[in-house]
Amino acid sequence: MLNIAVLTSGGDSPAMNAAVTSVVRAATHYGMNVLGVWGGYHGLLETPENQDGDFATLKLRNVLNIVDLPGTYLRTARCDEFRRPEVREKAAELLKRKRIDGLVVIGGDGSMTGAGYLCELGIPCIGIPGTIDNDLGYTELTLGFDTAVNTCLEAVRAIRATSRSHHRAHVVEVMGRHSGNIAASVAAAGADVVMVPEHPMSVQEVSEALKQQAAQGNECPIIVAAEGCWHDWPEMKSFDVAGFLRPLEEKAGVKPEDQTLPGTRMNAEYCAKVLEHMSGIEVRHTVIGYTQRGGIPTAQDNTFAFQAGALAVRLLRDGKENLAIGIKGGHVFSMPIADALKMPPRFDEELYRLINSNNKE
Ligand code: F6P
Repeated sequence: MLNIAVLTSGGDSPAMNAAVTSVVRAATHYGMNVLGVWGGYHGLLETPENQDGDFATLKLRNVLNIVDLPGTYLRTARCDEFRRPEVREKAAELLKRKRIDGLVVIGGDGSMTGAGYLCELGIPCIGIPGTIDNDLGYTELTLGFDTAVNTCLEAVRAIRATSRSHHRAHVVEVMGRHSGNIAASVAAAGADVVMVPEHPMSVQEVSEALKQQAAQGNECPIIVAAEGCWHDWPEMKSFDVAGFLRPLEEKAGVKPEDQTLPGTRMNAEYCAKVLEHMSGIEVRHTVIGYTQRGGIPTAQDNTFAFQAGALAVRLLRDGKENLAIGIKGGHVFSMPIADALKMPPRFDEELYRLINSNNKE
């Protein structure tokens, strides 16, 4: 095997660059050439601007400069076109034409699925799990999760400081459209209540938890909510936000055009408002947002990236393919992509129960 390619795909995650660097480092060691694919699977599509795909030669001396950079140097995209078999066939033909002997795909479950399809079309692929959500069941960690949790934790610590000064509670929204992993880890490390899409809670339950915290002497209870609690309604147990807030707004003399509209969906802001009225405790909210994806990778994420990149190249060199790399107990391993994707998404039930068990009478 002489020529390999590497791409990053899906939502970017810290340490994707470290994984690319590790791939180039190992490939250089084995005397292989590496092409970087620009913009995820998009770079494998023939477009009028890029008749020959979108590739760049990656040399060790260049990629060493990107190892600690947040974001992904190769850029990324969510490539819906790649769901079409004829598009994938063309991409495989292009890779063969360019004499690419193997491809390393760094991304989440959708990206891994794409890698599996390319294997069926004769392109040996290895997948490295890269998503801040840590929602791939076969591996204890995905690249970027640890960094995202630490970014959130830093924010939560600052929020708690100001909340303590004012005797306020706070709803902090973190990412995780379908997964409460970031929320649970952040809450375990520095908050009091956690709301996750895996366990829909009612606003009444959250309000009770808040009151319980206050009764126990907590002057500034912090509730961490995964965005998935309200993204995929009705993952948070149905609640008529408009019905609840409207009479209060009317009483407060809010102009009709500023009032909550019927059918208003719950979000961090409304959740804080409703909780404030239900519990009688002052509640503010913060949405941490995309800073979670752009943090400088932690040592843990960079180390996994280093191990995964090296293993990916070794597997390709040894003629292996269609494998997903994971980590368990600090050791990297690989398993068939199809089997890896069959495993249910990871969520630490024990940790979740432990956090919320303190909020019950
Ligand atoms: O990468 C996963 C994730 O961070 C989710 O938690 C989040 O909902 C989503 O990406 C948002 O990504 P985008 O807005 O870039 O599609």
